[in-house]
Amino acid sequence: MSDFTPGDAGPDPFTAVLRDERHRIYAELAAEGPVHRITTPTGAQAWLVTDYAQAKALLADPRLVKGGWELGAYAAELPEDVARGIHTSMLNSDGPTHTRLRKLVLSAFTRRRVEKLTPTIRRLTDDLLTAAAAEGEGAKPVDLISALAYPLPLGVICELIGIPDEDRTAFRAWTTPTVSPGIHGFEAFREAVTSLLAFSRELIAKRRNDPQDDLLSDLIAARDEGASLTEDELTSMIFLLVIAGHETTVNLIGNGVRALLARPDQLALLRERPELLDPAIEEFLRHDGPVQTTLPYRTLEAVDVGGVKVPAGAVVLVALMAANRDPEQFPGGAALDITRDTRSHLGFGYGIHYCVGAPLARVEARIVFRALLDRFPGLRPAVPEEGLTRTPSMIMNGLTALPVHLR
Ligand code: HEM
Repeated sequence: MSDFTPGDAGPDPFTAVLRDERHRIYAELAAEGPVHRITTPTGAQAWLVTDYAQAKALLADPRLVKGGWELGAYAAELPEDVARGIHTSMLNSDGPTHTRLRKLVLSAFTRRRVEKLTPTIRRLTDDLLTAAAAEGEGAKPVDLISALAYPLPLGVICELIGIPDEDRTAFRAWTTPTVSPGIHGFEAFREAVTSLLAFSRELIAKRRNDPQDDLLSDLIAARDEGASLTEDELTSMIFLLVIAGHETTVNLIGNGVRALLARPDQLALLRERPELLDPAIEEFLRHDGPVQTTLPYRTLEAVDVGGVKVPAGAVVLVALMAANRDPEQFPGGAALDITRDTRSHLGFGYGIHYCVGAPLARVEARIVFRALLDRFPGLRPAVPEEGLTRTPSMIMNGLTALPVHLR
C-alpha cells in the first residue's frame, strides 16, 4: 500500500493533465499494491483501489454503500430541500430503495426509448459535423470537443427527457456548473442546481397534466406494486441524467478519437473492417475510459482489500481507469487494440450501480464514429499528441480540447 497526498507528494492522478501522466501515476500506484490511502484535492481522506480483481469484488460487496442523499455532493452546504431534490437518486441509494428506484427507472428507460432516439442522434451528429466542416474550411483546425463531443450528448439528454426546444439554452447553461462543480465553484453550482430544480419541478407539473412521448412522462407514470416515484426522486433523476449522461459520453467520443489518431494502424484497420466498430468502442472504454474513479462508496464495516484492512466508515474510490489497465486482466493494456476481447472492462462500473445509460452511450458512440469515419477520410490531428491536455478532475477523464483537421 502507498500513501499519497496530492499537492504535497508530487503529481497525483486527479490533477495530472499532461499526455499519459495520469495513466503513468495509476500504473505506478497499482504496481505498489491494490489499495492506497489518499488525501483528495478537496482535503478529504479516502482509499483508492487500483487492482482489477479487488475493484470488481468491492463493487459487488454489500458492505460498500453509497449512504443516501445526505452524502451527495455539497449536500451539507445546500438548503435541505435543494439537496433532497437533486440527490434522492439511485446513484446515492442502497438496498431496497436502490432496487425500487432502479426498477422504476428501467421500466421507463427501455430499449424502445433508446431506439426511438436513433434518428435524432443521427440528425444532431450530421448537423454538428456539417457546422464543424464549414468552420474547418481551408486549413483551419476544428476543436472536436466543443464542436461535436460536448453538444451532442446534451442534445440527446434534452431529447430523451423531453426538454422543450425553447428551454434548451437555459437548460444547457445550468448543466456546465452542475457537471463540474470543482471547476466552476460552489456558488455557481448552488445557483445552477437551484434553477435546474425549479425548472424540473415546473416541467414535471406540466407533464403530469399533459403527458408526452418522453422519458419524463414515462417516469411519472411508472409504478412498482402501486408505488410511483416521489417528487424528489423525479427531480433527482433529471439531475442524475445530466451529471451521469453528459460528460461521460463527451469523454468517450473525445478519448476514442484521440486514441485512434494516435494509432494510425488501428484507424486504418477500423476503416478497412467496419465490423470492428463495436469492439473498438469497448476498447476505447477500457483503454482510456471516460470515468477515472467511481463516485464515493463507504464501508459499513472493516473490509480486507488484498491484505490491507480498510476500516469501517472509510470513503472508497474505485479507480476504474487503473483497473482497466491491470496487466493480469488485460496484458499489454497500455496499447490500443481494437481486436482485443474487452468484455470484462469496468468502464461502465460493476455491480448494482452498473451504468443504466450504457446502451444509449453505445448507440451514440456508434453513430458518431461511423459518421466521422465515413464523412472525413482525411481526419487527422492538428496538434502533436504532446500538446493535448486532460481536464483536472477526481471523477472524469477527458480532454480540454481536441484540435483536428477534418479534411
Ligand atoms: C460512455 C458513457 C458513460 C460512462 C462511461 C458511464 C459510466 C458510469 C459508471 C462508471 C457508473 C457507476 C458509478 C458508480 O459506481 O459510482 C454509472 C452509473 C450510472 N449511469 Fe452512466 N455512464 C455513461 C453514460 C451514461 C448515460 C448516457 C446515461 C443516461 C442518459 C447514464 C446514466 C447512469 C445512471 C442513471 C447511473 C446510476 C446507476 C445506479 O446507481 O444504479 N450513464 N455510469
